[in-house]
Amino acid sequence: MLKTSNLVFLYPRISLDYPRHKSWFADVKMAPPDAILGLTEAFLSDKNPKKVNLGVGAYRDDGNKPWVLPSVREAEKRIASKNMNHEYAPINGLAEFYNKSVELALGKDSEILKDKRNSTSQCLSGTGSLRIGAAFLGLFWKGERLVHLPNPTWPNHRPIFMHSGLKVATYNYYDPKTLGLNEQGLYESLCKSPEKSIVLLHACAHNPTGVDPKKEQWLEISRIMKSRNLYPFFDMAYLGFASGDIDKDAEAVRIFASEGHEFCLAQSFAKNMGLYGERVGTLTIVCSTKDEAERVTSNVKTIIRPMYSSPPVYGARIATEIFGDNELYCMWLEDLQTMANRTINMRNQLMEKLVALGSKRSWEHITNQIGMFCYTGLNPEQVERLTKEFSIYLTKDGRIAVVGLSTKNVTYVAESIHAVTKG
Ligand code: LMR
Repeated sequence: MLKTSNLVFLYPRISLDYPRHKSWFADVKMAPPDAILGLTEAFLSDKNPKKVNLGVGAYRDDGNKPWVLPSVREAEKRIASKNMNHEYAPINGLAEFYNKSVELALGKDSEILKDKRNSTSQCLSGTGSLRIGAAFLGLFWKGERLVHLPNPTWPNHRPIFMHSGLKVATYNYYDPKTLGLNEQGLYESLCKSPEKSIVLLHACAHNPTGVDPKKEQWLEISRIMKSRNLYPFFDMAYLGFASGDIDKDAEAVRIFASEGHEFCLAQSFAKNMGLYGERVGTLTIVCSTKDEAERVTSNVKTIIRPMYSSPPVYGARIATEIFGDNELYCMWLEDLQTMANRTINMRNQLMEKLVALGSKRSWEHITNQIGMFCYTGLNPEQVERLTKEFSIYLTKDGRIAVVGLSTKNVTYVAESIHAVTKG
């Protein structure tokens, strides 16, 4: 047994002149603000009554207020009346929710779903689903594989994959000269990518450019990726939001499914259900057999468990309520149309106002692009002037969240853009 007197030999005496260590975190440098979410902080502290936030991609109604979808409100009422408990969800979430989520993306007649070759888990919205998928690939492919991201892409993609131990490269995607797809450059990049690389694809409504490949171009991308043995990882954040039509927005993913690819698919319900803060999403890893999918799921669970144990249930319950009731589901489809139509209308108004102001530039890309964002083609100096002189907040790359425009501010925004681009 250890006697008190023995402790003298086990522990050094504490001397009064023992050097005090400096603070543990004295060397930590200030990190830069987030390229997108940091803009909201700057916007909130701006005193200009005319200020406009076109930074973050979060839908606003025409009064510039966050919009709770009527279908979501109704689902919430129904959930409240059920007096549900607050037990833990399973590690990979609510099966009723994640099965419907993947069905929405792949379609009711999906062969993958019939064969149960999908490993699907509820994760924390788009970012969390990408992160778990990346961690799984990083773990099993041990950082040997390159992940190719489109140039440009959502700024969070790079750290998501790097933090998962994968190496990141880029492929040609956008052509600043045409403000459209760099089709040949894209194919050339894919042809040059080392075999077995991962290729991150935006399923629809490419963020930040709003430029999507057309059907024939998706078919060609699929063909090249198959012949080069490249692994597709789809980020699907805007299903139904981009065009207002779920089947149309799911086209690229379904092409890859019918062409026999195995792939990862990260889905988010932030934008299409307006459930931003509820963190609702799913990760699907398409496998070659049901047995393989079950083994993959068991490993995905071992990644989730030490990260956050299991996902929150509230948002997934809302989505499940909507999926499970035909009346609510139809209401949701109408809500999607409402959001898509208002966004398209704002694109048209912005373009028309710039033309009416006598702008000599072509602004057609505003209406050619799709989804939440417009890649305006404004340069960093013009962006800086918009923010400093007009209190209009947008990302440095010239991306504007079209969903932040309204009939109240679109004239001011058009006039301000004209002021920084003329002459
Ligand atoms: C955006 O790109 O603005 C959105 O996807 C929000 C985010 O998390 O960056």
